[in-house]
Amino acid sequence: MTNIDELRAECKEQYEKKLNRPRIVVGLGTCGIASGGRKVMEAIKKEVAERSLDVDIDFTSCIGMCFIEPIVEVSLPGKASVIYGDIFPNKVAQLIESHIVNETPIYEWAAMQIPNGDTPYEGIVTMDEAPYYKKQVRSVTSRLGRTNPESIEEYIATGGYEGIQKGLQIGREAIIEEIKKSGLRGRGGGGFPTGMKWQFVYNAVGDKKYAVCNADEGDPGAFMDRSVLEGDPHAVLEGMMIAGYAIGADEGYIYCRAEYPLAIRRLNLAIAEAEKYGLMGENILGSGFNFRIKIKAGAGAFVCGEETALLNSIEGQRGMPRVRPPFPANKGLWQKPTVLNNVETYANVPFIIRKGSDWYATMGTEKSKGSKVFCLTGKINKTGLVEVPMGITLREVIFDIAGGIQDGKKFKAVQSGGPSGGCISDENLDLPVDYDSLAAIGSIMGSGGLVVMDETTCMVDVSKFFLRWPRRAGRHRRLRASSQSN
Ligand SMILES: Cc1cc2nc3c(=O)[nH]c(=O)nc-3n(C[C@H](O)[C@H](O)[C@H](O)COP(=O)(O)O)c2cc1C
Repeated sequence: MTNIDELRAECKEQYEKKLNRPRIVVGLGTCGIASGGRKVMEAIKKEVAERSLDVDIDFTSCIGMCFIEPIVEVSLPGKASVIYGDIFPNKVAQLIESHIVNETPIYEWAAMQIPNGDTPYEGIVTMDEAPYYKKQVRSVTSRLGRTNPESIEEYIATGGYEGIQKGLQIGREAIIEEIKKSGLRGRGGGGFPTGMKWQFVYNAVGDKKYAVCNADEGDPGAFMDRSVLEGDPHAVLEGMMIAGYAIGADEGYIYCRAEYPLAIRRLNLAIAEAEKYGLMGENILGSGFNFRIKIKAGAGAFVCGEETALLNSIEGQRGMPRVRPPFPANKGLWQKPTVLNNVETYANVPFIIRKGSDWYATMGTEKSKGSKVFCLTGKINKTGLVEVPMGITLREVIFDIAGGIQDGKKFKAVQSGGPSGGCISDENLDLPVDYDSLAAIGSIMGSGGLVVMDETTCMVDVSKFFLRWPRRAGRHRRLRASSQSN
């Protein structure tokens, strides 16, 4: 049986050593790869080999600044890490020559620096002060772009699996109380109180229960869940394990759309690693708790994001919503009591259990606690992923963080919440971003996709798009699936 305390001490020691070596780290989330990150990685390996440099080369996931991918981080022992944006293969030799060989960062290419206790460089903005991050919080996204998502050791070194360890000590009821006290509400769109949902499933009678993760993420412009899965897969697994233990489940499913191959690959790897260390499977940490997680790749029909359609789809039936009641809490997967939460909801759980509900509730507003991850796309200057405290205004998100509208054009509207949401125009830009304020003006916070439109956008076209979307998102993929099976 794994001695988790010894394992954690070992992982921390190795991680410290790693951080104190000359390192070059490439962002290889989907955005980094799409921008050519893998070619940059190859160029770095080649350059380092040709110069016989004693430098470690590693990769990470998306740090959030998708607008300057490919992103490369360079760090020397005792010195702040410097994050460079728009690094293409033709810039690699110069970057290595200057930053590694001559120990001088290229200031004009640097996006920011992360001192992390080491000596900062004069003249490069720190992450805390950078306009893109100043108003953000890094909680559920804290490992994104900072650790290697394929290394369970780095997850453990940075507090990973402390949540389940603590959860197993405090017991099932105490976990549910803690989640209730934190005020966590479902991040999949509806904002249902997570602790209350878990209580229903805990109370439900059943010889078998399930914990299911909704990673279908069908809203246009939404890639929060994909980024969390690609960047911190163990946090989602750990959140599900804590939920499973609390409600009395021994099996979990992650329903992830097949269009997210990298997320699925990293999840499978994370499951294998967790099982290898005895952190998943039988008798977890000697507690007698058994839990296993399976991945179900969905064909990508928008409707399968709806929880009961999703359950049908896992069961191999057509992805059609079920009539409720009964609710999944009583009759869910294979008619057994089931807790079903979104990726971001689960990913918050280990942090809450580890750091406590009081810590979590310091972020956000009275009725919407914590932080929320959003994706900014459309006519915005800085397309990317942001995590903000609930209650921040849309103006702060769109203008202060994401740099406002492209080409100096005027803002017209921001679409939030996908097809179930609405378009918010400039008179509501100063509204706090929380579940209730957005619902009060006829939109919803949704899962976090924010599509920004400028003065040239035709709102009639936008309406037509959203009316067609739910139908098309299913039909298009069904056609593709049937042509693939022929
Ligand atoms: C048409 C439709 C599509 C949905 N798509 C998603 C989705 O892609 N991801 C998601 O988490 N929730 C989606 N939901 C909400 C889910 O039904 C469910 O409320 C949610 O996954 C519960 O998790 P939470 O409590 O953690 O938010 C969708 C709902 C509807 C009606």
